[in-house]
Amino acid sequence: MTEQSMLFRRVLGSFATGVAVVTTKTDGRYFGLTINSFTSVSLEPMLIQINIAKNTTSHETMNASRHFVVNILAEDQQLVSTIFAGAPPAERFDHVETWEASSGCPVIEGSLAYIDVRLTATYDGGDHTIFLGEVVEMQPLRDDASPLLYYRGRYERLATREDSRPQG
Ligand SMILES: Cc1cc2nc3c(=O)[nH]c(=O)nc-3n(C[C@H](O)[C@H](O)[C@H](O)COP(=O)(O)O)c2cc1C
Repeated sequence: MTEQSMLFRRVLGSFATGVAVVTTKTDGRYFGLTINSFTSVSLEPMLIQINIAKNTTSHETMNASRHFVVNILAEDQQLVSTIFAGAPPAERFDHVETWEASSGCPVIEGSLAYIDVRLTATYDGGDHTIFLGEVVEMQPLRDDASPLLYYRGRYERLATREDSRPQG
């Protein structure tokens, strides 16, 4: 890795994010990977965006499936994040319970919320592809739980600030 790419990682890692697992189903088989490059794009229509590295297994399956589910992970799902970032693709779903969203893509049990998405466009993003999709179904699943966070290359947890509470 060059000095510039190390600097890029360090600076961009200062932007704290949540963590999600994106899942798809192609030819009756489930695929999934951990991501943190996820953002809402548009409210009307409801669009979201994820960025997937071109050298991943998921890159091909996403294109083939045309649908995907974004599973937003809870604080107690760090192991799920690790598995979907590193275990062999064929074994990842052995470690989680799932049920299917209306697209047929799997929702991971224990997630904070899920978004079922129809792929509407892809854009070249260097060594990644930008996947833009329209929300077809979504649901909060656990109002009681906190999100899993990622900051400077490490998992972190939410600490509520005293001064962020509504005044008055
Ligand atoms: C916290 C975290 C965030 C990640 N974010 C992304 C991401 O936004 N896009 C991406 O392509 N890979 C991301 N990765 C890496 C993939 O999860 C990893 O390369 C995975 O093994 C790809 O699986 P696949 O080749 O089976 O698709 C992330 C990993 C971690 C641990």
